[in-house]
Amino acid sequence: MADQQDLPEGSVQNIMDQESLKWVFVGGKGGVGKTTCSSILSILLSRVRTSVLIISTDPAHNLSDAFQQRFTKTPTLVNGFTNLYAMEVDPTVEQEEVGGSDGMDSMISELAGAIPGIDEAMSFAEMLKLVQTMDYSVIVFDTAPTGHTLRLLQFPSILEKGLAKIMSLKNKFGGLFNQMTAMFGMGEDFGEDAILGRLEGMKDVIEQVNMQFKDPDLTTFICVCIPEFLSLYETERLVQELTKFEIDTHNIIINQVLYDDEDVESKLLKARMKMQKKYLDQFYMLYDDFNITKLPLLPEESLWLRKKLD
Ligand SMILES: Nc1ncnc2c1ncn2[C@@H]1O[C@H](COP(=O)(O)OP(=O)(O)OP(=O)(O)O)[C@@H](O)[C@H]1O
Ligand SMILES: [Mg+2]
Repeated sequence: MADQQDLPEGSVQNIMDQESLKWVFVGGKGGVGKTTCSSILSILLSRVRTSVLIISTDPAHNLSDAFQQRFTKTPTLVNGFTNLYAMEVDPTVEQEEVGGSDGMDSMISELAGAIPGIDEAMSFAEMLKLVQTMDYSVIVFDTAPTGHTLRLLQFPSILEKGLAKIMSLKNKFGGLFNQMTAMFGMGEDFGEDAILGRLEGMKDVIEQVNMQFKDPDLTTFICVCIPEFLSLYETERLVQELTKFEIDTHNIIINQVLYDDEDVESKLLKARMKMQKKYLDQFYMLYDDFNITKLPLLPEESLWLRKKLD
């Protein structure tokens, strides 16, 4: 195995060059630099694409911090750009807002409560439906830490199971379902067929998107990590899960890399560099068919994205 120093510096150029890409996921363990990397990627993409949307699906949003601008669940133009939009979606809040508003929605949230994950799946589907109609040339996802993202990719099957469960309830209780909707003062529009229709409609969208997610021409997943044991381990787990879900991944960004350009005197820094080198070597060995990009650890955090832009 060649030493990493002998290898050409990797970059995300392959992502810029892949014009067919529509969905770019950026994921990894908590705090490794997902928001930073997805923000930079969306900016780079905005230079080569007609329009770019960056979506944060992390309930603890930080796109607003990265761009120093408030974002909501509606796509908003990022200051200083003409073709880069950002939005932050939060599945859990969506569900709370719905509670008790009108008959059908409280019914839906009752059902949602009975089927773990279906509430999130449904708001994710609604969001994708919205985004699908908006015609962005590429959509970048700044995802929540790993576990959450992997769940998100399983939503189609959760929805499918949810539908099956509701259908079986319907068959079991027959007319009772309709009587109940009448009892709660829900008109024809809010009856069982409307609920099933709504679920079915979203299932169509999510199935369609799911097909797109599994098409490597349209979708790729960029793994962000740091050169440490746990992160290497987590990355391998992520890559395996993605393979299981048939989602393409061939880019790894290793963030927070220490470089010894300046004469480093500190024993602590030297020791950490040695440790990083060990894991960097392992990354290059394990993922020799990936595009690996290294990003340096910078002395300060907050304005680092800004500096990158100047
Ligand atoms: N290479 C770097 N050098 C210095 N600071 C960095 C670097 N990369 C990220 N940071 C800082 O580390 C913090 C975490 O980065 P970021 O928010 O991008 O990570 P994240 O993976 O999105 O985190 P979370 O899992 O909490 O969403 C931020 O304050 C960011 O400015
Ligand atoms: Mg983040």
